Amino acid sequence: AHRPLIAPSILSADFARLGEEVHAISGTAGGGATRADWVHVDVMDNHFVPNLTLGLPVVQSLRKATDLPLDCHLMIEDPDRWAIGYAEAGAYNVTVHVEAAADPVMLAKNLRAAGAKAGLSVKPGTPLEDHLDTLKHYDTLLVMSVEPGFGGQSFIPDVLEKVRTARRLVDTGHLKLVVEIDGGINADTIEQAAEAGVDCFVAGSAVYGAEDPGKAVAALRDRAAR
Ligand code: DX5
Ligand code: ZN
Repeated sequence: AHRPLIAPSILSADFARLGEEVHAISGTAGGGATRADWVHVDVMDNHFVPNLTLGLPVVQSLRKATDLPLDCHLMIEDPDRWAIGYAEAGAYNVTVHVEAAADPVMLAKNLRAAGAKAGLSVKPGTPLEDHLDTLKHYDTLLVMSVEPGFGGQSFIPDVLEKVRTARRLVDTGHLKLVVEIDGGINADTIEQAAEAGVDCFVAGSAVYGAEDPGKAVAALRDRAAR
């Protein structure tokens, strides 16, 4: 198995001190276990989800504030219109929701052409089966393990069936995806997600609710690797 990727969500960080909060998961000189793999950035528009967070200007500033890859999770309507801006702002991966995208195949092509990886996310109630052809055009699959909108919710174990399906399709060469999970991931839930075949683990409250976010990153990665 590969080294598990940990992507702390800054949704649970102090937005007034974002630079320091990202620094806290940037590891020590020379990298090390306390360094996050990606920074997960939750963009919400108060329409696709009932919460409002941050947008392009903040992502542009974050791009200058850290060398960690930015993993932008767009919980917004009309991603066909807005997602490209995040790729152009230097996001490493731009994830859109399949429930919101009008033409997800075209969107993936545009994101890749703009230099980003293309991510597709499914809400807990959205089946994978209907979107397998679409996923051929994507680099990452973000399986939501809570209803999108808020940090600190409880993990929904039912979604692990989708993770297992995706893992099987990747391992048999039918899809080429980084399998990512988002919602309720903490020291207690990360092992079952790892066992189901997740490559990249998003964690908000489990990282930024900890006294030392860097140590929380290292501890989560350690548990996922067992
Ligand atoms: C929720 C967001 C998540 C959130 C996860 O809609 O997509 O990224 O920050 O927070 P936790 O890890 O606290 O469930
Ligand atoms: Zn997210």
